[in-house]
Amino acid sequence: MSQKTIITIIGARPQFIKCAPLTPPLDSQFNHILIHTGQHYDTAMSDIFFSDLAIRKPDINLDCRSGSHATQTSFMMTQLETIYQKKKPDLIIVFGDTNSTIAGSLAAAKSHIPILHIEAGLRSFDKKMPEEINRICTDHIATLLSCPTKNAVRNLKKEGITKNVFFHGDIMLDAQNHFLKKINLKKSLKIFSTLKIQAQPFALLTLHRPSNVDQKKSLTHIFEALKGYSLPIIFPVHPRTKQKIKEFSINVPNNIYCIDPSGYLDMLQLIYHSCLILTDSGGLQKEAFFSKTPCITLRNTTEWIETLSYKANQLVIDSKNILNKEKLATALKTKPRFSNNTNPFGTGKATQEIVKTIENFLA
Ligand code: UD1
Repeated sequence: MSQKTIITIIGARPQFIKCAPLTPPLDSQFNHILIHTGQHYDTAMSDIFFSDLAIRKPDINLDCRSGSHATQTSFMMTQLETIYQKKKPDLIIVFGDTNSTIAGSLAAAKSHIPILHIEAGLRSFDKKMPEEINRICTDHIATLLSCPTKNAVRNLKKEGITKNVFFHGDIMLDAQNHFLKKINLKKSLKIFSTLKIQAQPFALLTLHRPSNVDQKKSLTHIFEALKGYSLPIIFPVHPRTKQKIKEFSINVPNNIYCIDPSGYLDMLQLIYHSCLILTDSGGLQKEAFFSKTPCITLRNTTEWIETLSYKANQLVIDSKNILNKEKLATALKTKPRFSNNTNPFGTGKATQEIVKTIENFLA
């Protein structure tokens, strides 16, 4: 076992998934400290991921909770700076594009601690998304950059970042392959009897982007467009969206079945059993692709452009941030093409590649 200290920062749902395959090898090879910022804190948003994915208890929880971007980020940075000073890590690992990512990396850069950014190089080219700012800033101060796709490597090159850039593939594919073995896809879903839905097929909907849910107009538009859809739509509701539905007194149409946010294993079941995914989540676009489920993305950009070129995913929000009903209607009719040849997200061995890169760097 190496004497080197590594701190991994996680805080939001997608980061719990990404850290699941990486935590065991890091625990066995290094002095590994797992920090949960507490950005997501509910049982349904946090605890269930730790039990579903068998992730060990974090060593430290900052209990940051909700707040404005500046409040959340500055709170995390202040706490992390003190921890970094005390623990003197040799490397900080951050994932993706959330406020926990930028807080962990900014505090590290200012303390001259090397940073490994997993899921580097993603760009939606929409700076109105908080995630785009978090990605760009993190990539420009990271020491090691682990890219999930070759397109991500090209994006970094265009911004002059070429040193220590690696194409490792997507660690979410490792997680999905691993946890698929833990569930029985042949078993019928309990949710159907709970919701008293007659039978499959069904569509799966998730919404949480501020651009879709923070304005009454955009959220109402989406529900209205889906009102006449012929299939039942199962909708695990993110707390932000739940709050907005209540605040705007929106009546969700009868064909949309609202349920609590799903844990990882239930979500995998829903993804594999659904015949269509409607989402504004980045992670779910990829999970749809991995499972060969057609996807309609309720956004006007995507950082996962590989899914578009395979016609497996279609964007249906126009540049003025309004749902394009014609595009949606066409997308609902289009048969997607899935290529079985090469997977743009790698071979499902990102974890091993990342660990090798860390070993070489810390040797
Ligand atoms: C965050 C990430 C987003 C990621 C998403 C995954 C940022 C800027 N955004 O968005 O990139 O796709 O996580 O889900 O970091 N809330 C609860 N309980 C919780 C967590 C949140 O009630 O456990 C509510 C709070 O009212 C909060 C709101 O949800 O204000 C939004 O949460 P927040 O963590 O700020 O961002 P997300 O929308 O979840």
